[in-house]
Amino acid sequence: MSHIQITGGKSLHGNIRLSGAKNSLLPIMTACLMIHGTVILHDVPKLTDLKQMLHILADLGCTINIQNDTVKIDVGELQKHVINHQAAPKIRGSIFVMGALLSRLGKVELPYPGGCAIGSRPIDLHLTMLRQIGVKYHCRHDTITATYIPRRHHRPTILTLDFPSVGVTENIIQATALGIEGNVYIIQGVAKEPEVVDLCHFLNQCGAQITGAGTDTITIHSVNKLHGTTYTPIPDRINTGSYLIATAVVGGDVTLTNTRPDQQTNLINKLKNVGAKITTQDDTIHIVMNHRRAYHFDVHTAPYPGFPTDLQSQFCVLAALTKGNSVITENLFENRFRYVPELVKLGAKITVNHNQAQIKGVSMFSATPTSNLCPSSYQIPDPNECTGTTVTAQDLRGGVALVIAGLAAHGTTTIAHAEYIYRGHEDIVKDLRQLGANIVALD
Ligand code: UD1
Repeated sequence: MSHIQITGGKSLHGNIRLSGAKNSLLPIMTACLMIHGTVILHDVPKLTDLKQMLHILADLGCTINIQNDTVKIDVGELQKHVINHQAAPKIRGSIFVMGALLSRLGKVELPYPGGCAIGSRPIDLHLTMLRQIGVKYHCRHDTITATYIPRRHHRPTILTLDFPSVGVTENIIQATALGIEGNVYIIQGVAKEPEVVDLCHFLNQCGAQITGAGTDTITIHSVNKLHGTTYTPIPDRINTGSYLIATAVVGGDVTLTNTRPDQQTNLINKLKNVGAKITTQDDTIHIVMNHRRAYHFDVHTAPYPGFPTDLQSQFCVLAALTKGNSVITENLFENRFRYVPELVKLGAKITVNHNQAQIKGVSMFSATPTSNLCPSSYQIPDPNECTGTTVTAQDLRGGVALVIAGLAAHGTTTIAHAEYIYRGHEDIVKDLRQLGANIVALD
């Protein structure tokens, strides 16, 4: 188990450069399985989820070479269709291997995908869409076996998603972009997330013919071969958002480079509404937040361009420290408030009812020293001095929310199970230390 320890109360100042987006790189890496040749990916952060994905690719027969933040993936004649049973259940992204291997080999055997326990995370929509293009599958215990023999179509195949799922959109793109030349798929109701657009850009650069990415209808003209390329993914908009929110919570003056301000419009507008001064330029976002407390707000999560569910927990920390009462409604995942009891340990006043958090803003976070929360050496704090305590990360984004809370809490906060955070942040401790935070990583 890893820990992060923070002595909070300091504002943030300085610059951070963001890396490539985890949620772009996962499907881009699986899309490499559709390619004959070599793919070179730049700006790849060292994240545990990406390491697991590269492990899956290597196990399927790809040769992987990593130098700093560049990953070279050589895809030869693939033979193996059984996905590694140790690595796949650890990450949600392993579901994308399904579409990629079905279009490349016509068969796949896959353990149920994993990922953060933020909800039941079913795969029914993936299977429904794949069945509509002719995939036959069989679910047994913890394994899915699927086969696919594409047939020539004389008319476009029209598919409609019941919900704009990011993963389903990415999977069906991979299942159809490589296939019988001349087949056309019109996929309606797709996700418009920037990571979906990034996957389409990558595939088009490899020779695919995909149009409409970023709108709710994507048209795919299947091609029978894809070639290698060199590609830099979009920067991580969720990590960008987390650092913007952290600055809004504790105050400061921070410049984020290698970002895409156009992909952060929703968040930037909300942060401006609560008092942050934000200016943007090409790939740079500059935030200044004075120390006065933000005003309360209501937020509900929604598919892009709505407010991202992946920033809901971080935004809740901001709400917990604002003046007045705020409401946060989570519309995508049913288990995304598991961080709330941990924030309450730090003094937040939040109650959760179904998919809504009712938040009564407090002026600061403080610890409640009880024997079961604190190590034996714990000193009973001076009641006039706010002190942190031990909180436990339950998933990646909820863990980042606890880091932000720790930055705000006076005294020392220890975040247990920090390994969840490293699924999506290469080195959050180094980044925040660079901005002046008093933060260390512990084993
Ligand atoms: C992706 C992101 C995740 C982000 C989410 C929403 C990756 C690796 N993960 O997850 O960080 O929070 O998009 O922006 O890119 N659903 C079903 N059946 C299915 C598939 C999904 O009911 O077969 C439901 C989910 O339970 C959830 C909703 O659809 O309630 C949205 O899920 P989806 O957009 O598919 O998210 P992921 O692709 O899993």
